[in-house]
This record gives sequence, structure tokens and C-alpha cells, in this order.
Amino acid sequence: MASENPQPPGEAAAVSRRTFFAASAVSGAVVAGSSLLGAEPATAADSTPSSRVSLTVNGTRRTVTVDNRTSLLDLLREHFGLTGTKKGCDAGACGACTVLVDDRRVNGCLTLAVRLDGAKVTTIEGLSPGDEGPLHPLQQAFVDQDAFQCGYCTPGQIMSGVGCLKEGHTGSPDEIREWMSGNICRCGCYVKIIKAIQQAKG
Ligand code: FES
Ligand code: FES
Repeated sequence: MASENPQPPGEAAAVSRRTFFAASAVSGAVVAGSSLLGAEPATAADSTPSSRVSLTVNGTRRTVTVDNRTSLLDLLREHFGLTGTKKGCDAGACGACTVLVDDRRVNGCLTLAVRLDGAKVTTIEGLSPGDEGPLHPLQQAFVDQDAFQCGYCTPGQIMSGVGCLKEGHTGSPDEIREWMSGNICRCGCYVKIIKAIQQAKG
């Protein structure tokens, strides 16, 4: 029998998706336990599940209360104003959002901010000492090798390249290509990106 107040199908789906994501974020935090997450549930005025999280971003300690569903990418761009990290697909498929967490590369769009309590995050803004300081060797190599066109993918390419260098996956162009394969460049600068990583390797 039909309900007297039927919900439009799209609205019902949207509500259930929101409910699912909210529940997933909360249950994920509970399952992972305080030793992993460390984030404190916040007493928010509204019913949106939120948590306090403290992390070090580019050498500066930051504490913020965020909706549990907030990605690291959105935390950086929308809460901290660090817009150097780019949003491409927002689904883990392009690498534009790559940053370092505790010196390991991650996709910011796939990482929940509440998982990062106590973590050290490095973005493209924190790679070199400051506006007046020298560029990071890989940034300089991208300039020298002309390894970008529109530049949208470039912060992610550079952060992933830094990770690739730290991991030692730079033995040959093929090895670099393989370990940089998560970073897409719509302008097709791949040959020069690999040359830049080889230059930075020295
Ligand atoms: S924006 Fe994160 S992988 Fe595309
Ligand atoms: S330089 Fe344009 S997407 Fe890579």
C-alpha cells in the first residue's frame, strides 16, 4: 500500500546515502579505536557527527573540529586555505590530491581527516622553505624540464615524485613510470615528468 506522504525516490536515496556515510564515518572511527585515530568526538550543537583533530601541517600544529566525513583534501583546502593541493576526481583515480602523511604519499580525497590525529602532513606549500627560499630540487627539476602545461596535476605529481624518490623507486624510467602511474596528466607531460624525477635523483 502506498504511503500517505511518499518521499521522492531521489530524496530517499540521498537521505539513505547521507545516513550511510555518517554512520560509516562514525563506525569506522570506533572500529579503528582510539590508539589509531585519537580524535575526540566533539559535542556539536547540531546532530552532525564531528570530531576534534590535531595534526601538524607543514610544520605548524593545527587543531580543528570537523565533520567526521571531511576528507584530508577538503580539510586542507577549505579549512586551512592550502589550495595548492588539487581536487580532480575526488575518487582516488587521478592523483591530483597527493600529499605526504608521515612521509608517505596518500590521496587526500580518500583519507578521512579524523584518522590523522597526531599525524604530520606535508603539502606542496611546505616542500620548500618559503617564498624567498630555494625550490625543492624536484620543483626546480619540473621547471628545468618544462614538465607541465596547465599545471593542474603538478602539485600532485611533485608530491608523488617526492614520495617516489624517498621510496627509492627511481632505478629506471620504467620503474618511475610504474610508481608514478597513479598520477594522471591530462596534458600528457609524462616524458618530461620522468626526466624531472631523474634530474632530482641526481
Ligand atoms: S582528487 Fe584525489 S585521486 Fe583524484
Ligand atoms: S600539466 Fe595539465 S594536467 Fe598535467
